[in-house]
Amino acid sequence: MASDKDMKLIEDGTRLDGRDFDELRDISIKAGVLKRADGSAYLEWGKNKIMAAVYGPREMHPRHAQETTKAVVRARYNMAAFSVPDRKRPGPDRRSIEISKLVSEALEKVVFTEKYPRSVIDVFVEVLQASAGTRCGGLTAASVALADAGIPMSDLVASCASGKIEGQVVLDLGKNEDNYGQADVPVGYIPRTGEICLLQMDGNLTEEEYEEAMDMTIDACKEIYEIQKEALKEKYSTELEEANLDEVIKEA
Ligand code: CDP
Repeated sequence: MASDKDMKLIEDGTRLDGRDFDELRDISIKAGVLKRADGSAYLEWGKNKIMAAVYGPREMHPRHAQETTKAVVRARYNMAAFSVPDRKRPGPDRRSIEISKLVSEALEKVVFTEKYPRSVIDVFVEVLQASAGTRCGGLTAASVALADAGIPMSDLVASCASGKIEGQVVLDLGKNEDNYGQADVPVGYIPRTGEICLLQMDGNLTEEEYEEAMDMTIDACKEIYEIQKEALKEKYSTELEEANLDEVIKEA
């Protein structure tokens, strides 16, 4: 988190992009967008554009990586070379390895992995365009893709960040807010149980600020959860309509 004293992030009580302090950027999710994958989801969140694809459960290779009592959820987060203003050097780096690990661990909390011993569930998160909050966007999209793949899960994971800019706690940091703000706290939330399956903090918050940030984030995650469920309903209701149409044509 760079700090730049001259970068104004709040003017006349509003943020640079006109949002209120507790307002999310626009989010849209579409489930089942890739035909080759077992499950998929495409997410736009502000200027972020992220694709998630799920393959499996299938036999884990290499075999020594198998778990005898459960499936391994293996997420791979990747940023396209063209996803950021300065070309991103292709291939894994420290940051993408970290994000892959935390996405895997967050999703493991909701997937009934014990149903598929010795298997792997591969989750690919491809960031096509990045503008802050891609780990939250990636996790949110990945959990829709897992549900789209029909993987048994206790719930979806909804994810969002909040942080601090110019001493003010705000929801869902945009690019400049992330770069020049004072704190960023990404969270993964399991709405049904209220559990937290991802929590990181970059920067500093007081205890009160932390409480305020968490309250904002959890409310936002509940909103995101509704968008995730809508995306799944939209896909399956369309499929059902198409199936019914086929029946009508057959009978005619
Ligand atoms: O994306 P997220 O906020 O989860 O992770 P970050 O490490 O805090 O990165 C914040 C933002 O910095 C990303 O969303 C990108 O927009 C940008 N970034 C970049 O421009 N080039 C990179 N190699 C990595 C990140």
